[in-house]
Amino acid sequence: MHSYRFFTKYYDQIVRWSGYDLDWEIELIDNLINRFTLHRKNIFELACWTWVVAKQLIKLWYNVNWLDISRHMLEKAKENIWENRCFYGDMTNFSLETKQDVILCNYNSICHLINWEDWLKMFECSYNSLRKWWLLIFDINTIWEFENINRDFSAFFNIWEDTICLEMEKKNFLDSWVKLWLEEYKIRWDFSFYRWLVKMFIKLEDNRYELVEEVVDENSFEITDIKKSLEDIWFDILHLEDFHKWDVDNESERVYFVAKKR
Ligand SMILES: C[S@@+](CC[C@H](N)C(=O)[O-])C[C@H]1O[C@@H](n2cnc3c(N)ncnc32)[C@H](O)[C@@H]1O
Repeated sequence: MHSYRFFTKYYDQIVRWSGYDLDWEIELIDNLINRFTLHRKNIFELACWTWVVAKQLIKLWYNVNWLDISRHMLEKAKENIWENRCFYGDMTNFSLETKQDVILCNYNSICHLINWEDWLKMFECSYNSLRKWWLLIFDINTIWEFENINRDFSAFFNIWEDTICLEMEKKNFLDSWVKLWLEEYKIRWDFSFYRWLVKMFIKLEDNRYELVEEVVDENSFEITDIKKSLEDIWFDILHLEDFHKWDVDNESERVYFVAKKR
């Protein structure tokens, strides 16, 4: 099954819906950058997708370039003026010739990396692509948030003449026989991740509906483990901020990290 193929068409309406305060998010990113650095900066955004954030940051006079692993994003970019700012690439395996002032990975995009090893690779690639003393900024959906969404969640959206249904379930990497074996020997090992099920009922020209299904997998890890790994890679953690309520606690849903390359 594909990930983010047909759903791209509905992403801005559903995820960045009109009631969603994008201005607030841009203001937060701008504030974080200005609070911890001194002058106008180059930003490289990882996993930009429809570059909804990058476009706003350019309006604030940042010099922004970006990458994403989605070919559909690149196809879209070719249709407009953003083409030379946007690259096809994997955030777990990139290196930039020009060292950046800020590497940004926004809107829980890092959670699309299911394995912890890939989170570490993303931190390392970012470290190698940053100028000394400059910033890596990213946000996560916390485990708390995923566990809560995971309980009986489903949402429906009518967009144009189509209907989109979003559901989430918790999945496990392991085959059931391995799980049984682990249980038998009382070994506790968490190989779970979270899967969005996206069902799109798309209206056809003859008024019939076609069902198209996609999945988007996400994962999250403990904040303490993330902090420790960043420090091990040689970042200083400057700031953690809860997107909704400022202070980070056990029930934070979305947390921004600001880390400085030593
Ligand atoms: C939630 S969306 C992006 C959100 C966007 N940053 C924003 O602020 O609206 C997640 C994006 O991560 C991208 N992605 C997933 N895995 C990736 C990887 N390994 N490298 C680069 N991009 C990736 C997907 O293609 C998708 O565009």
